[in-house]
Amino acid sequence: MLKTLPADTLAWPRRAAIIGAGTMGLGVAESWIAAGVAVTLVDVTPEQTRLAQTRLSQRVQKHAQAGLVDPAVSARIANMPVVDSIASAVADVDLVFEAVFERIEVKREVLNAIEAAARPATQIASNTSSLPIDDLAALLRHPQRFLGMHWFNPPEWTPGIELIPAQSTDPQAVEQARTFLQAIGKRPIVVGSGPGFVANRIQLALFREALACVEDGLASPEAVDEVVRSCFGFRLPFFGPLQIADMAGLDVYRDVFGILERGLGERFQVPASLATQVEQGHYGTKTGTGFFSYTAEEREQLLIARDRCYAALSALMEQLH
Ligand SMILES: NC(=O)c1ccc[n+]([C@@H]2O[C@H](COP(=O)([O-])OP(=O)(O)OC[C@H]3O[C@@H](n4cnc5c(N)ncnc54)[C@H](O)[C@@H]3O)[C@@H](O)[C@H]2O)c1
Repeated sequence: MLKTLPADTLAWPRRAAIIGAGTMGLGVAESWIAAGVAVTLVDVTPEQTRLAQTRLSQRVQKHAQAGLVDPAVSARIANMPVVDSIASAVADVDLVFEAVFERIEVKREVLNAIEAAARPATQIASNTSSLPIDDLAALLRHPQRFLGMHWFNPPEWTPGIELIPAQSTDPQAVEQARTFLQAIGKRPIVVGSGPGFVANRIQLALFREALACVEDGLASPEAVDEVVRSCFGFRLPFFGPLQIADMAGLDVYRDVFGILERGLGERFQVPASLATQVEQGHYGTKTGTGFFSYTAEEREQLLIARDRCYAALSALMEQLH
């Protein structure tokens, strides 16, 4: 169920504005309103803003009927102020969240309008999926209060959020955003501002190979998706790729890379840091050192905790299917 807090429980932000009420803006609005933040929502025209508020009400009602959100959240949405412009939406808020089209010229116009009307202390966060955060920060007069806050779809349910400081971002702004997101039950992760940050870089690499398997005639789209979901994807709620490699054996990974490189080319070249780990005898859990370190006791605890998680997930999947 979506985390609900009484209104005004959070120390910060008490008020927030969301600019761009599409797929992401609406989901973030639902999550913040449920968390007790007073939200103003604005889209490109007053008509689209009103339509967006109707869509938000319908979305929350459906979630309430499905038992996924406290029905009291619907009343909060009914009481949301109606604003017709970015200037009135951001005038008196602690945080502005920009979720407009992924086009720099649109973001520029919107960020300028936000800065023209927001108080100097107002924090500004962009949901960009791919635009370099330093490029967006360069559009602002006061870039120290700006950062990337990259949510994932559907935003109200996906816990992870990448927080991406620009070079100019005040570390306190990052801390404030992190504290807020943790308080509403999210899992913020601070990452650097490379292309696609971390999540989309990995996600798109996975997508590229998934598509290549279809194009090479190895499997149908259905079979590829099933392999990802039920084979290695089954582990991903609990472990990331580096710890999974530690548990499998880095020596094994190195050898498999070698075979893939011979068959599929240099994109599967053994990564230099993996080769170094293996040369140093760091094979992962079986030697006690890999990307992480493990005492014998920690290794035993990790493996039994893993098996508990997998058994619980198997049972949940059976129940849901
Ligand atoms: N869709 C996803 O899965 C996803 C995930 C993470 C991040 N993002 C990022 O979030 C942002 C929004 O994506 P989305 O999927 O919600 O897009 P969307 O097209 O669903 O919504 C964008 C909204 O912004 C509004 N808009 C455009 N120009 C505006 C303006 N000048 N003033 C006010 N509103 C304006 C549009 O009318 C639209 O309602 C993008 O930067 C995108 O890259 C999207």
